[in-house]
Amino acid sequence: MANKPILAGNWKMNPTIAGDAAALLQGISDAARAQDRVTVAIFPPFVWLLGVLELLEGTGIELGAQDCFWEPSGAFTGEVSAAMLAGICSWVIVGHSERRAMGETDDVVARKAGAALAAGLSTIICVGENQAQHDAGDAGPVVEAQVRAALAECSADDSQRLVLAYEPVWAIGTGKNADPEHAYRQMRLIRDTAAGIIGAKAGARLRVIYGGSVNAANIDDYVELPQCDGCLVGGASLKADEFSAMIASTAGVYATAAQ
Ligand code: PGA
Repeated sequence: MANKPILAGNWKMNPTIAGDAAALLQGISDAARAQDRVTVAIFPPFVWLLGVLELLEGTGIELGAQDCFWEPSGAFTGEVSAAMLAGICSWVIVGHSERRAMGETDDVVARKAGAALAAGLSTIICVGENQAQHDAGDAGPVVEAQVRAALAECSADDSQRLVLAYEPVWAIGTGKNADPEHAYRQMRLIRDTAAGIIGAKAGARLRVIYGGSVNAANIDDYVELPQCDGCLVGGASLKADEFSAMIASTAGVYATAAQ
């Protein structure tokens, strides 16, 4: 495997109290420290980033933000730039479906991804079809178009810091995780599409991960897939014991694969 797999915990707009954020981090530290096969990254809300950063030392856990703005600075009330984040964290998520649902277009996602990569951040770009598109049999074309649009400002040089997350909208927060066979086909399409845009070598180097109702009971079904370089986890990343179990089992799967 060219790239180290990643297990990403997207905390979304949780927890609401700083002390709970610290406790959650402490609750997963032992599991993260106990392995080095998998990059563990957590994505707390902006307001907890600095506090969590102070507690990360010695854990091996990497820090990321859930979104960024493409302009480096200026009169953009409420926004946080990729350049600002680069001083605090090493990761950012762009194009999450919960942001797309609030009006974020493919063009906006592409600008954010371009700015994030240019700022030196490792960048997770989320793509995925919604329920209606899935039911209509359009999952492939929808995801392919999203990947094409999102990579508009990316180049082969970005591939080591680029992660494409297949997150079917209907699987997020619903408990209806995607059939691994479907996820596999979509992830292969995502990698092939990316390779067609930034080149075969870069396409092989970037990481493709799955997200959508992943938990300790089903994570092995995804990380065992040949195209899968890890998972993006929402709800289950807020439970320290469960996320710790996921870190351990993911590390175990990749350790076996490496033999
Ligand atoms: P979920 O969220 O694991 O709660 O389904 C995944 C995500 O939104 O990234």
